[in-house]
Amino acid sequence: MSLISTLQTELDQMAAAGTLKRELLMKSPQGAVVDVEGFGDVIMLTSNNYLGLADHPAIVEASEKGERDYGYGLASVRFICGTQTIHRKLEERIARFFGTEDTILYGSCWNANEGLFQTIAQEQDAIISDELNHASIIDGVRLAKAKKERYKNRDMADLRRALEATRDSRNKVIVTDGVFSMEGSLAPLPEIVDLAAEYEAFLVVDDSHATGVLGNTGRGTGEELGVFDKIDAHTSTLGKALGGSHGGFTTGPKTLIDYLRQRSRPYLFSNTLPPAVVMGSIAAFDLLENDPSFLTRLRENTTYFRQQLTAKGVNVREGIHPIVPIIIGDTAKAIAISAELLTRGVYVSGFGFPVVPQGAARLRCQISAAHTRDHLDRAIDAIVEVGRKFEVVG
Ligand SMILES: Cc1ncc(COP(=O)(O)O)c(C=O)c1O
Repeated sequence: MSLISTLQTELDQMAAAGTLKRELLMKSPQGAVVDVEGFGDVIMLTSNNYLGLADHPAIVEASEKGERDYGYGLASVRFICGTQTIHRKLEERIARFFGTEDTILYGSCWNANEGLFQTIAQEQDAIISDELNHASIIDGVRLAKAKKERYKNRDMADLRRALEATRDSRNKVIVTDGVFSMEGSLAPLPEIVDLAAEYEAFLVVDDSHATGVLGNTGRGTGEELGVFDKIDAHTSTLGKALGGSHGGFTTGPKTLIDYLRQRSRPYLFSNTLPPAVVMGSIAAFDLLENDPSFLTRLRENTTYFRQQLTAKGVNVREGIHPIVPIIIGDTAKAIAISAELLTRGVYVSGFGFPVVPQGAARLRCQISAAHTRDHLDRAIDAIVEVGRKFEVVG
């Protein structure tokens, strides 16, 4: 049992250091207010349910219909007997939304990233990746045999250095998150697009926190920054703004997607998305494309929340994204504030070192279109009160 005792020792160390993650049990669907065991109804201020679609009746109904008409599961990967008409319909729908030639679905965006870089970049090639990219990109890039270069977060001089360092590679792939999830900051896509053109690199943007969130029509960071059609390929998730269930995709040129269908390992060797999720996701795109009020409410709520907190002296990291980090500094304090907020009816996560740099511990608030003004006001009051008690708000 030496393995188990090694693992137990590490768990004990995490507990002693206060870094053990605990999972709260919710007894209700995801939403603006959730019922948490032991705490009752609390305002949810820390989910990726940006458009508030996680419990939307139209999506639940579409998903139930998916199950009734197409069954619970396919018991197969896509290429054996796991592709239904609705899988192609969703892929075509996503391609239309992004204005791309085709889309390939995966079980998650994690899988999309895991299945992209090792498939398209070989020894002669290079992958150039922002240092703060999501873990799925980091792991996905690790699996590739290509030369790897990391550049400092959003640092264009360092991206140029990395491109120079890989000048002799056959093909170069630049990959960046559209939005960095601990900061709520946007990748400087106009500059990245220019550098990609100058060095003839293929640009991939993982827009998991921006699809259905940023841009006038929810097409993401590229749309927000005016360079949407200059991005060669996107990966993104169906598990955040678009209903929050499961699934991910890569969308881009037909040749890329055709190739991934032949060679991408998580696509070839992992089960197809269930019909309920596929139909629910199509309904999510219907809502996003036909009803601009979700995006309008999300934008208004985000602006209001950011402005009110700043006016009340809370140290909010500047930006436009519904991820609103409140910088606390000390990790133990951030965790204690988060715990106290929960007892006051506000559910918001605290993140400390090593997830964020030493001394930059924070509460990560996330705003949803489902929040009412009353939810936001109550959350703001609680944050200010608890912040004063812990002497992080003046
Ligand atoms: C930038 C980014 N990429 C990928 C993922 C993974 O998405 P999924 O939950 O669909 O695997 C996340 C989720 O946190 C993310 O933030």
